[in-house]
Amino acid sequence: MDDRNVTVIGLQWGDEGKGKIVDALAERARYVVRYCGGANAGHTVTVGPERYALHLIPSGILHAGVGNVVGNGVAFDPPEALGEIAGLRERGVSVGPENLHVCSAANVVMPWHKAADRLSEEALGSGRLGTTARGIGPCYADKATRSTAVRVGDLLDADALGEKVRRIAKVKNATFAALYGAEPMDAEAIVEEYAACGCELAPMVTNTGAMLRRAIAAGEPICFEGGQGSLLDIDHGTFPFVTSSAVTACGVPTGAGVPPSAVGRVVGVIKAYTTRVGAGPFPAEQDNEVGERIRERGKEYGTTTGRPRRCGWFDAVAARYTADLSGVDELALVLLDVLSGFERVRVCTGYRVDGRDVEGFDPAGSDFARAECVYEELDGWDGEITEARTFEALPASARTYVEFIESLMGRPVGIISVGPDRSQTIMHHTALGRL
Ligand code: IMP
Repeated sequence: MDDRNVTVIGLQWGDEGKGKIVDALAERARYVVRYCGGANAGHTVTVGPERYALHLIPSGILHAGVGNVVGNGVAFDPPEALGEIAGLRERGVSVGPENLHVCSAANVVMPWHKAADRLSEEALGSGRLGTTARGIGPCYADKATRSTAVRVGDLLDADALGEKVRRIAKVKNATFAALYGAEPMDAEAIVEEYAACGCELAPMVTNTGAMLRRAIAAGEPICFEGGQGSLLDIDHGTFPFVTSSAVTACGVPTGAGVPPSAVGRVVGVIKAYTTRVGAGPFPAEQDNEVGERIRERGKEYGTTTGRPRRCGWFDAVAARYTADLSGVDELALVLLDVLSGFERVRVCTGYRVDGRDVEGFDPAGSDFARAECVYEELDGWDGEITEARTFEALPASARTYVEFIESLMGRPVGIISVGPDRSQTIMHHTALGRL
């Protein structure tokens, strides 16, 4: 294992607050690397009064001297990325070839991917997946199809891009017309827009895998930034209610073009409770005043879509499964402050199906949709904890809650976050040194 490197992943259904943790760790990294997902991600970084919502640009972008890498495993949306870059520049953040590197092998989200996402969801009606409508699934589907894929490198040769887009648009237009009666897309307009994006992006496009392998050989520290959450992983999540890429730490080598040993120390980010956006099973969901209170206190509305998130108690069974899957070394427990004021708090410690206790958790199994939580109840704590900067400064019952989670998860809580700001962070049992 390369001790200089760290991989930060979400252990739930996304939105765990990875952006804040990555931003904090970025200070010590030479590169911050996205290896999965695309603009479906929404990573929020708060610096003083400034709040940055990042979708495609890695969360190290606010640190001088850090190279931000969009790896080959990302579904890259050029107009979105350029819009995000322009927004950052307007706010005085410098973004350019000196600090942003986009892999030429990353697949491009094309307009027909967004159209397919929207049309397919509409056609599914009540059976829809509840995607972010960013074209993520259709883009990865074309990656697997290969003959209908467009990669970032293709954007740099306008003639070859033109030929490719015209050929693929013909297929997509015929398919969408037949399936959904949709109007055809204008291939020439797409060629023009994406070739222009290629010109703007060209100085930032490179073989990022080779770049990272050179960095590894030179002993430069790398932080891999997960997108979504492990329960949304295409292979190991609550299929089919998942996203379309490998989002666990297991996705790092393929999604970034580095050897498995480069993954380094794995930090699993968990909220002190659980949320989920979109459809799919969620045994610990509290579709009641508890869930509402968590949503309001935690401002649990999507960064990408603005949708209200479904909220529930902390599910230690599901999170333990994903922590074991990625070999998580330590946990970052975030949003602990949101639970302040509950007289009693609950943690899901097991499942029952058809009145019988079931062992473990198989997200691929149909049982999960029927699972009911077995809860352990603990004392809550009063008063705000947003000013606490040490573990000892937390109320006794909040400390007990943290220790209970540690014991259920089988690994230490390294970092505790008690608010969105960089300063609202408690270093607990971490091996990562001071943030
Ligand atoms: P897609 O990734 O847009 O295809 O959406 C598939 C599922 O993953 C939906 O339930 C989305 O709400 C969910 N999802 C995708 N990205 C994120 C994320 O970054 N945070 C939380 N949920 C996400």
